[in-house]
Amino acid sequence: MSQMEHFIIEGGNQLNGTVHIDGAKNSILPILCTTILAEGDYIFGNVPDLTDVQNLLRTLSYFGITYSFEKHNNILFLSNPGINDEDAPQKVVQKTRMSIMTLGSLLTTRGHAKLSFPGGCAIGTRPVDFHVEALRKMGADILLTDTYIHAHCEGLKGAEIKFLHSTVTGTQNIINAAVRAEGETVIYNAAMEPEIGDQINLLLKMGAKIDGRGTGTLVIEGVKYLAPANWRIIGDRIEAATFAIAVAGTGGEVELKGVNPDHIESILLMLMACGAEIEIKDRSIVVKSSGRLDSTGITTLPFPRFPTDAQAQFMAIMCKAAGISIIEETIFENRFQQVEEFQKMGANITTKGRVATIRGVGELKGATVSATDIRACSALVIAGLIAEGETEVRNLKYLDRGYSKFEEKLTNLGANIKRK
Ligand code: EPU
Repeated sequence: MSQMEHFIIEGGNQLNGTVHIDGAKNSILPILCTTILAEGDYIFGNVPDLTDVQNLLRTLSYFGITYSFEKHNNILFLSNPGINDEDAPQKVVQKTRMSIMTLGSLLTTRGHAKLSFPGGCAIGTRPVDFHVEALRKMGADILLTDTYIHAHCEGLKGAEIKFLHSTVTGTQNIINAAVRAEGETVIYNAAMEPEIGDQINLLLKMGAKIDGRGTGTLVIEGVKYLAPANWRIIGDRIEAATFAIAVAGTGGEVELKGVNPDHIESILLMLMACGAEIEIKDRSIVVKSSGRLDSTGITTLPFPRFPTDAQAQFMAIMCKAAGISIIEETIFENRFQQVEEFQKMGANITTKGRVATIRGVGELKGATVSATDIRACSALVIAGLIAEGETEVRNLKYLDRGYSKFEEKLTNLGANIKRK
């Protein structure tokens, strides 16, 4: 089990070759919740084999959904025979925070849901008040206890939803709630992440009426029925960013296939600012680097700006860049947990609130380090790849939630990394 497993990385190898990027974790998760909305059969392509996906599928199975996942070709066959009246048990729901995204679909489809509270996590408290307030505005009666969200409604009604801050899964939950609600819903300050575009494109194919895709204002006219549809999940921009950042740090030349360059433009621009070369081809991105990098400054912000999900990875390579880099994290209040681990590897980083100052040290040294979330884990792997000597990265259960065949892909590019 990955809980006890760790990586042993011998640093110093350049990365060269081609890597195929999997389907986006943050796209398939909301899309799985979308399948609650329409009875029938679905075939999904480019589905990543991740524990988060498996855990959400388990949650859905309690509502009557059945599935079979062909891992070797990333195809998911899913069938919704009609949603039953069951709730998923707490121990299953709590395995993934994204169970919260079933709420909008369940309310609009069957009028009730009881979910255990997703609670906080390592990167921040991660409240769900925006989801709850928006659903209340649409007519849901929601009672919150310490452990449960109890929600009922006599059919959801369209409403004007104004999110105070951009929220990715909040927007996705309300889209799912609104597509079959009675009347018109307008979502202001809707998040614009590409995964939301993927969900909307699928819903349009299923017969939903949604205007404003890719903008901050979505206008949704509820329809009575939706039809199931087959769909291919977009490439995972954060997995692609992770590989691009790794190559910039180790040096070498890697072609990334299966991701839309527009989805990671903010990251590619920062890598160029640090000295990496980027070439956008017809269907791929080539990242080339000598491994010698200049320092820079980044601020994490909602799409299309620099994503919080690539902040820790970027910090890893800034540890060795020439000069002083400043990183500001504006999305989550506790997303610098990798810092202490980088320090064990010789990094010179100080933090003050949400700002980290990194003084490049030229070279990191191998050490034993532990991950606290998905992205911190991939960042520690990058640090191990660029460090001198051996690095042990612990807590791979986090990595396996968001990256599929990570070490296999890195090994194919020339890295010396083993899972033990
Ligand atoms: N927020 C609230 N109340 C809410 C919802 C959000 O205060 O009801 C706050 C959050 O605490 C945070 C900010 O708003 O400070 C933005 O949170 P958001 O709701 O956008 O985050 P999320 O939807 O829970 C998704 C991704 C995260 C990613 C963030 C930000 C999925 C499944 N998860 O989370 O992905 O970091 O958006 O882009 O889409 C990851 O993949 O490693 C990951 C953590």
